[in-house]
Amino acid sequence: MQRLVNKRILLGVTGGIAAYKSADLVRRLQDTGAEVRVVMTQGASEFITPLTMQALSGYPVHTDLLDPRAEAAMGHIELARWADLVLIAPASANFLARLAHGHGNDLLATLCLATGAPIAVAPAMNQQMWADPATRKNQLILQEKGIHIFGPGDGGQACGEIGPGRMLEPLDIIHQAAEVFDYDLMTGKHVVITAGPTREPIDPVRYLTNKSSGKMGFSLAQAAAEAGARVTLIAGPVALDTPNRVKRIDVVRAEEMYQASIQAVEQGCDIFISTAAVADYRPTVTADHKIKKSTEEIHLTLIKNPDIIAAVALHEKRPFTVGFAAETQDVIEYAQGKLKNKKLDMIATNDVSGSDVGFNSDNNALTVIWPGGHKVLPLASKTQIAKQLIELIAIRQS
Ligand code: C5P
Repeated sequence: MQRLVNKRILLGVTGGIAAYKSADLVRRLQDTGAEVRVVMTQGASEFITPLTMQALSGYPVHTDLLDPRAEAAMGHIELARWADLVLIAPASANFLARLAHGHGNDLLATLCLATGAPIAVAPAMNQQMWADPATRKNQLILQEKGIHIFGPGDGGQACGEIGPGRMLEPLDIIHQAAEVFDYDLMTGKHVVITAGPTREPIDPVRYLTNKSSGKMGFSLAQAAAEAGARVTLIAGPVALDTPNRVKRIDVVRAEEMYQASIQAVEQGCDIFISTAAVADYRPTVTADHKIKKSTEEIHLTLIKNPDIIAAVALHEKRPFTVGFAAETQDVIEYAQGKLKNKKLDMIATNDVSGSDVGFNSDNNALTVIWPGGHKVLPLASKTQIAKQLIELIAIRQS
């Protein structure tokens, strides 16, 4: 089931009494961590209302191929591209026939033609219809096309007959859907990443901050999500788009980042990566009103911010904890000290004395250190470096 975390499932519902079970299927799929969008055929809407499916999935249900409003929001080609799996449950005899023969005469059939994602069907029909030679033939064609066929189950049917043709129960469908996906490096892991600078207010219009762009943390979030992880990104004020499939929590001050991080650790996470350039100090008091320039000198008293990563590493639900260290001299020596003092599992360190790596740059070069070993990741784009670091973390954490 962990394989369904973050996966995008396009659930197609066709006309059949088993359509009522699709409502439960939506919920249970969401419970696994999958994202679900629903497409219904006209026949399905006779058995269960699009409104029910909309309320359960939390997203508009798509029903028409030629609906200009729906096309403007998320058109059929976009939906087809969005999906990691198109799952049709229940799949009626009519739909199996249309799918086998490549019809594009409604939204769901068209989506199946347009998608590059795997397709799975959970047939549901009267046992005689399932046994009919035409349906048998369609089943073979679908199998040849590489379409996954889940079930059907055997037993009592809504029509009073007994035999094969029942739609599998939602949990069985989910188990089989999970099998469609491979295990990735971080499948089933919850990764929490802090990124960007923090902003420590002096008065309502002024603050202390630093040059961090957040690019490294955002690249890591993307790489972890692509490696199958559920990712929470705790971001300071940065001008970056949230990577796909990543949950973002925006914070401003170091104390807010601390609260969000500890809460995430308490809720349970496997890996914590701290790329944020947390302000070491904050003004002891924040003025309620804009400070006036009346005197030649003003004195700002600063107080130390909490060390977020050190607190995470000491937490009783301690995850695998990875820090970053940007240094301008004696890089490795300082990083080794931080690894030990902050009780980290790993530290990624870079020399920010030049302008080609680190803060604000699109590139980075890291030396990754852990107790008893190290690895150099030579200069590359932050996207590339992030992939390599995620791979290294996955190997050392498991
Ligand atoms: O001590 P220094 O700031 O150099 O340590 C760097 C590491 O510690 C980074 O991973 C950074 O995100 C983290 N850190 C933190 N909370 C702070 C200061 C740094 O989590 N208050």
